[in-house]
Amino acid sequence: TPRVLSGIQPTADSFHLGNYLGALRQWVAMQDTHDAFYCVVDLHAITIEHDPAVLRRRTLVAAAQLFAMGLDPDRATVFVQSHVPEHTELAWVLGCLTGFGEAGRMTQFKDKSSKQGTSGTSVGLFTYPILQAADILLYSPEPGEGERALRVPVGEDQRQHLELTRTLAQRFNHRFGDTFVLPEAHIPPGAAKITDLQEPDAKMSKSASSPQGIIDVLEEPGPMRKKIMRAVTDTGSEVVYDEEKKAGVTNLLRIFSALDGASVPDLEKRYAGSGYGQFKKDLAQVVLDTFAPIRKRTLTLLDDEWHLDELLRRGSDRASEVAARTMETVRERVGFVGRG
Ligand code: TYM
Repeated sequence: TPRVLSGIQPTADSFHLGNYLGALRQWVAMQDTHDAFYCVVDLHAITIEHDPAVLRRRTLVAAAQLFAMGLDPDRATVFVQSHVPEHTELAWVLGCLTGFGEAGRMTQFKDKSSKQGTSGTSVGLFTYPILQAADILLYSPEPGEGERALRVPVGEDQRQHLELTRTLAQRFNHRFGDTFVLPEAHIPPGAAKITDLQEPDAKMSKSASSPQGIIDVLEEPGPMRKKIMRAVTDTGSEVVYDEEKKAGVTNLLRIFSALDGASVPDLEKRYAGSGYGQFKKDLAQVVLDTFAPIRKRTLTLLDDEWHLDELLRRGSDRASEVAARTMETVRERVGFVGRG
C-alpha cells in the first residue's frame, strides 16, 4: 500500500474550517487506502513565540480533534512530532543540502518574517520548511515495500514547501544514492484555499484572520451560525459562483459544496432567486451538522487524558520504528561511522 504523511500545527485552540476542508478531511479518507502517518507538529509550533502551558494544552486538543474526526488508531499512525527525535536529526542533514537563497525564497517565510521584522524572526522560522521536508521524507517507503508512493494531503499554501521537499529528496538521492521517494502533494481541487469570511480575498488563517473571519471546528453552535450569517457577500443578491466579482459568495459556495456533496451548479440552481439569507441559513446548518459530533467526541476524549496519551504512545511507537529505519540508512549513506 502507498504511504500518506501529513502534519498540522497546534497553534490555536481549535482547528478551523480551512484546515478541515483543505487537509484533515483527506487525512481521514486516505487512512482507508494508504499506510497513514499523521503528526501534530509541535516542533514547528515553537518557531514563533509561544507559551509552554498553552502549547501542551493545544497539542492534546489537536490530537483529540484528529481522533474525533475519525482517524482510527488501528488504521492510522497518529503521533506527536517531538516524540520522534529523528525528525530533527534528518532536518539537520537536509539543511546541509539546502541553499541559503533557496530557503529564503519560501513565500510563507517571507510573509511571516516581514510581519515580525528580522530581530523578531527566529532562525527556526527560516529553517521551518526543511523540518517539514524531514517530516515527510522520514516516512518514505523503502524498496521492496510494495508500491513506493508517498502522498501528502495539504492545502494550496503548502505547495511550495512540497516542491522544496521534492528538490531535497532528489538532491539527496543524486549525491548519496537512491533513498527517498519523491512525495506528491495531494491538494483538493474545490477546497484548497478556503478564505476568510470577513475578507474573502485572504486565506482563512489561524494567525491572520479575525475571530469573525474564522469558523472553528470546536465553535459553539450560536456563534457559528452568527458568523456565517454575517459573512461578507456583495451588494447583489444572486447566489452565483464568480471568483472575481463575488469572492465571498464563491467561498461560501465552495464550502457548501465540499460539505454537502452537491455540485456548485446544482447549488446555484437550488438557490436561484432565493437570496443570500436562505442560502447562508442552510449552509450554517450543514457546517453545524458536520462539526457538532466532532466537537462532542473531542470533549469526551479530553476528559480522559490517560487514554489520549495511550493512543499517542501507540502512534509514536509505530512512527519511531519507521523513522529509525530511515535514519539508519541516511546515516550510512551520508558517511557517518556506525556505533558498532
Ligand atoms: P498548518 O498547521 O498551517 O495547516 C494545516 C493544514 O491545513 C491547510 N490549510 C488550509 N487549507 C485550505 N484553506 C485554508 N484556508 C487553509 N489553512 C490551512 C494547510 O495547507 C495544511 O495542510 N507547514 C504545515 C504543517 C506541516 C506539514 C508537515 C504538512 C509540518 N510538517 C509535513 C504536511 C507534511 C502547516 O503549517 O500547516
